[in-house]
Amino acid sequence: MRVISLAGSPQVPSRSAALLHQSQRWLQQQGVEVIAYTLRDFAADDLLYANFNSPDIKAFAAQLALADGLLIATPVYKASFSGALKTLLDLLPERALDHKVVLPLATGGSLGHMLAVDYALKPVLAALKAQEVLHGVFADDSQILLSGEQFTLSAPVSTRLEQALESFYWALGRRKSPALNLPSTLLTQQTA
Ligand SMILES: Cc1cc2nc3c(=O)[nH]c(=O)nc-3n(C[C@H](O)[C@H](O)[C@H](O)COP(=O)(O)O)c2cc1C
Repeated sequence: MRVISLAGSPQVPSRSAALLHQSQRWLQQQGVEVIAYTLRDFAADDLLYANFNSPDIKAFAAQLALADGLLIATPVYKASFSGALKTLLDLLPERALDHKVVLPLATGGSLGHMLAVDYALKPVLAALKAQEVLHGVFADDSQILLSGEQFTLSAPVSTRLEQALESFYWALGRRKSPALNLPSTLLTQQTA
């Protein structure tokens, strides 16, 4: 199984990226291949000026097409997901998440905005035709603390994240592969 992880914060270090890093380690321990991207892998001009011909963004879309799932992390900015992340999602093909399972992760300064993923990010993931968007994980800033130069998750957040990753892992295993979407006539020919 192959998963793309996408860190949607413009900041470094990043609390939402810390959720991703722990997720990557957990998935790799289960034998899942994780290909990690951050917004910094793309030129700011390409994102800001909607360069649909950007080779980097095309390469990202191609990797996504080959993946089974997407882990996407964002900070809450102004009661929504980050605008920088939206500039990248805007440049993906219309069906970029077709057949993909998606696990959204978010951090915010206030628990009052814990539903931002549900009302802001999930509709965009649905517009990109995600097959299944799982219940995400939200942590507020007091639950992810800076130790040295890195952020560390509190034990309750780690536990919730691991539960979400278990669901993600199982969803990846049962996902509908593109081949199963062939017209029924073709399937009959294949199995005859
Ligand atoms: C420009 C900006 C806007 C923010 N808006 C909100 C907000 O509306 N609601 C909220 O709960 N937190 C808000 N925050 C706090 C961040 O969501 C929070 O610190 C988050 O953990 C940052 O994640 P990151 O370290 O991955 O960038 C905002 C932070 C910034 C910089």
